[in-house]
Amino acid sequence: MNKILKLTVNGVAREVAAPDNAILLDVLRESCRLTGTKRGCDMGTCGCCTVLIDGENRLSCLTLAAQAAGKEITTVEALGTPNRLHPIQAAFSEIGGSQCGFCTPGFIMTTKALLDRNPDPDDKEIREAISGNLCRCTGYIKIIDAVKVAAKELAPEPARPTPPIAAPARRAK
Ligand code: FES
Ligand code: FES
Repeated sequence: MNKILKLTVNGVAREVAAPDNAILLDVLRESCRLTGTKRGCDMGTCGCCTVLIDGENRLSCLTLAAQAAGKEITTVEALGTPNRLHPIQAAFSEIGGSQCGFCTPGFIMTTKALLDRNPDPDDKEIREAISGNLCRCTGYIKIIDAVKVAAKELAPEPARPTPPIAAPARRAK
């Protein structure tokens, strides 16, 4: 029997009719029509279905939609548009880190979660972060390079040094 689930997806409150055991990936793709999140393995091994739940990367194929109720769900659709890419998407595109439409959304969302919690990751931290995302056809070098470029793009501007305060001039007596 369906129940009404209250979900917040990409900042939009939605009410979705779904059974208790509905999987978040299905609800996103079929009820919300957000098909950017991909189904690869459907068993938690590829990372294609990665979304953010309250800012943390989660596999939507292993998450009950009911578990995400009341939380902030973010999918790849929230990041950029074809005409205005998010800096992570732009970096993947520019460096050649994105190859196919199945694995790329998952890598992008995992990178978003990584850079939100660690804006300047080293190679080891990047490798660890993306270890749950599989690309079956290319290597990971360009993906890692793209994460580093995105990190630079998103880095806050360095604070300008504060000019020294001039001592007040002494009055002549
Ligand atoms: S589809 Fe979820 S991990 Fe592969
Ligand atoms: S480029 Fe997507 S699985 Fe390899």
